[in-house]
Amino acid sequence: MIRITYSNITRDLIGANGLTEDDLLAIDSAKIQDMFLKKSYPELAFLDLPKQDISEIKKIGEYARQFENFIVLGIGGSALGPRSIVEALSPFHNYLRKPRVFIYDNVDPLTLKKILEIIDLDKSLINVISKSGSTAETAASFMVLWQRLKDLGLSPQRHMVITTDPERGNLRKIVRDFHLRSLSIHPNVVGRYSVLSPVGLLTAEVVGIDCRDMLEGASEIGKKCLNFEVMENPALLFASALYQFNVLKKLNITVMLPYSDRLKAFSEWFCQLWAESLGKDGKGLIPYPSVGTTDQHSQLQAWMEGPKSFVVVFIAIEDYGVDIEIPVVFNEIEGLSYLSNHSLAELIKIEQEATEIALSKSGKPCITIQMPKIDAYHLGQLFHLFSIATAMAGFLFGVNPFNQPGVEEGKDLTYGMMGKRGYEKKIEEFLSYRKNKNRFVI
Ligand code: PA5
Repeated sequence: MIRITYSNITRDLIGANGLTEDDLLAIDSAKIQDMFLKKSYPELAFLDLPKQDISEIKKIGEYARQFENFIVLGIGGSALGPRSIVEALSPFHNYLRKPRVFIYDNVDPLTLKKILEIIDLDKSLINVISKSGSTAETAASFMVLWQRLKDLGLSPQRHMVITTDPERGNLRKIVRDFHLRSLSIHPNVVGRYSVLSPVGLLTAEVVGIDCRDMLEGASEIGKKCLNFEVMENPALLFASALYQFNVLKKLNITVMLPYSDRLKAFSEWFCQLWAESLGKDGKGLIPYPSVGTTDQHSQLQAWMEGPKSFVVVFIAIEDYGVDIEIPVVFNEIEGLSYLSNHSLAELIKIEQEATEIALSKSGKPCITIQMPKIDAYHLGQLFHLFSIATAMAGFLFGVNPFNQPGVEEGKDLTYGMMGKRGYEKKIEEFLSYRKNKNRFVI
């Protein structure tokens, strides 16, 4: 089981910037309990994902493994989950195994051009993932690939799987009209909470992971997270600590710092979840994705001596699964020889703890998640723990952790300029902004 170590948020360890146990307990946990148990937001449906029927995911996973390439089209919650699964559980996947996986989220044309140069569409399965079925980026790349398939005389029925809402949206209509393969995302599970739905699980199956293991892990941690004693529930403790740091100490940045390359994409997944769920009404903590040891040589200086407005969340890996000894060479050079007879896993683990100590000595709060190893079971736990903790933090802040009203304005302006009906007024606003902006060019 993953565990949470919170000594480095306490006053005993970090001094005045720290919290007391009373601070952690001062949250309204009864309210959180009530909201969770009564499912006061239907979007809490993600809590039941560990119990879902996965037979269709397994079936399509087997179908997908016949192909040489698996292309995911999706963005936000529809891309970051699949990407973190591949990176964590099948590192260097495309160099080693097939189907190779390409996740196209950003609509950077060069990226798609290069993917299309690398792959043969005839040997590819395309998984279009969009809960709403209306996201511009995903719709655009879907339309491009639909036409490409047609131009090559290839059938979408063979080469596409659509993952979307079971009833609603453009993609569901297209599934019905063209009899496409599809998977359903529970109607109440929203994008960033959907990694343990077909959104992430199909990709897991494609890269050879038994998605049952992820769900089992999630289920185990889920039980622990639905006990509403703050000091016994890792999700509630995490939510309480981050909330209290924000409210009592005015800290407004959360740094996610896993000590493994395999969790780099996970770090981005967490940041999307945390940012879109909590950043509302002037509240929340801005997340910052990071990775150790790399960022010790980049961000650490600022964390040690710059503004003190953040909390660091370490993910410490107990067993890397492999190790490499550092050989006894250059014995005569003292600056190198101290490393001999140690190992790379030892070095990265020592560096993680050393950074924790250094930060706490300088009064910076850190929470450490101890992850026994990076496998499907524990990754499932990590996803579920942070999903639950984020929803809990949202309730503590008094915001709706499942919507994202702040992204609408930019979308509407885009719709206007791209000619979507109903958004004509936005064109004028857009063009007047552009005109004004042009006055300030040097
Ligand atoms: O978390 C969210 O809800 C969003 O980030 C969505 O995942 C993102 O906007 C993509 O939405 P959709 O899956 O509807 O295309």
